[in-house]
Amino acid sequence: MLTIRKLKKSYGGETLFEEADLQINYGERIALVGPNGAGKSTIFRIILKEEEADKGTVERDEWTLVGFLAQESEAVGDYTVIQIATGRAGEIEKLEATLKALEDAGTVETREYSEAQSMYDALNDPKVEAKAKKMLRGLGYAETDFERPAKEMSGGWIMRAHLARLLVIEPDLLMLDEPTNHLDLMSLLWFQDYLKNYSGAILMISHDREFMDELVESVYDIAEKKLNSYTGNYSAFVEQRHNQYVQQNNAYKNQQKQIKDLQAFANKFRSVSSKASQAQSKLKEIERMEKIDKPMSPKKPFRFQIPDPPRGGQKAMTLEEIDFAYGKHKVYEDLDLSIERGERTVLVGPNGSGKSTLLKLLAGELTAQSGTYTAGHNAKIGYFSQHRAATLDPNASVLSEVMGAAPTLREDEARGILGSFMFRKEEVYKMTKVLSGGEKSRLNLVKFLVDPPNILLMDEPTTHLDILTVESLILALQSYAGTLVFISHDVHFIKTLATDVIHVANGIAKRFHGDWDYFIEKSGAGDERAALTAD
Ligand SMILES: Nc1ncnc2c1ncn2[C@@H]1O[C@H](COP(=O)(O)OP(=O)(O)OP(=O)(O)O)[C@@H](O)[C@H]1O
Ligand SMILES: [Mg+2]
Repeated sequence: MLTIRKLKKSYGGETLFEEADLQINYGERIALVGPNGAGKSTIFRIILKEEEADKGTVERDEWTLVGFLAQESEAVGDYTVIQIATGRAGEIEKLEATLKALEDAGTVETREYSEAQSMYDALNDPKVEAKAKKMLRGLGYAETDFERPAKEMSGGWIMRAHLARLLVIEPDLLMLDEPTNHLDLMSLLWFQDYLKNYSGAILMISHDREFMDELVESVYDIAEKKLNSYTGNYSAFVEQRHNQYVQQNNAYKNQQKQIKDLQAFANKFRSVSSKASQAQSKLKEIERMEKIDKPMSPKKPFRFQIPDPPRGGQKAMTLEEIDFAYGKHKVYEDLDLSIERGERTVLVGPNGSGKSTLLKLLAGELTAQSGTYTAGHNAKIGYFSQHRAATLDPNASVLSEVMGAAPTLREDEARGILGSFMFRKEEVYKMTKVLSGGEKSRLNLVKFLVDPPNILLMDEPTTHLDILTVESLILALQSYAGTLVFISHDVHFIKTLATDVIHVANGIAKRFHGDWDYFIEKSGAGDERAALTAD
């Protein structure tokens, strides 16, 4: 239904990929993977004609309906959640205008017209609203929020409203750019099940191994500016890529040894007249060989160290008898909690139980209606919110963002640390508005590192990060000298970091003095993923 041939794209002389081929058939499930900034979202934009390729073609079957979920949510105006989820927001008026214009021009036998017509029919189907509500519920929405203006909601919730809209339309091809980023575990599992039974084709960009393993049957990987395809799910891809490397590396080594032996023979007998011609033919043999390239060795996570921050007091933070409510909606009543220096605490609990609220209370970003909040002696708090793009000035360069975060930093120091986060050479002059999702997340991490706090509060820090960068972050946080409190739905991340678990549900925060395995055992949750959201 969609065929891409020999695609090439570069920005400012930097080639992202070339000779890229990709084919999607009806009903197929494909993952597009690769490191942050490799060009995955760019391929999507080219397919959607939002961007032009330098070379190559994209062909699409005329009648296919394509639905697209962007990596970062678009503006929502004054529309309500349900207006967005039904797809009516802004669309009905626009489609009517398009249809009329095409009719007036007498061009109704075109793909553009049939697409607009089928969209229009789909939106006006009376079952649409009921279906939209079902999707919203599945994605974790409370009934009471359906009629609220979407702009009151957080970015993650706006994205879910857009996602619901796509699921309502049921396009022939669903293009999803990191759809699990803003889903909590319960909605994620619902969504995964839903997609399993989805009849259309799915092309997804993701950094979520488990999600891809459950869903996809082939993987396209952008590596070294090439787009390589593999059959099977994500784990199968990792295995094949590894085997390919081992095979090619062995072949390379064998050939090198062969060359060395031939060369040694030639060197030894070149001046012996009876063997000179033999020596000569060995050299010829080397020349004639089809040389095997040395394969790129698999990338390892880069290591970075968070500089030791000034030491804080033994009690990092305390909350005493805290009452907190959003309007009438009570979240905490009489909450007591203290965080000790050096702990790495994860907050877990069901969707909407107040994890982010608790983190904001600890950060001093929210003030409780009653009770006391004390930050410990010498506390220097860094809060890494869930919505990080907003913390960057779109027209500032990467370098100036970092320099602004730490006034005493020298430019070469800033460039050094940016370099280890893959912002190389000229890339530090990029405006932040052109950065990929993962690049924005990395830049925010760098801003922390240049002026490290001794209490780090992180809300879903792995969102948008590629798999290797997550490993790098884990290594850095493991040796971090300060105190860490975080929220995550990434089991691997939690497992390798948490020394303490706080389970938040029904306004109660219960502490487990032990790591993830201890929590699993004590809470009796059994299944690890289920434990994240259990009440
Ligand atoms: N208009 C532009 N000018 C210059 N560079 C750009 C522009 N748009 C995108 N880029 C760069 O192109 C690269 C690819 O971006 P893209 O968004 O496709 O990455 P991605 O693979 O989706 O990454 P992520 O996993 O972080 O989402 C990035 O390095 C980005 O900074
Ligand atoms: Mg992207």
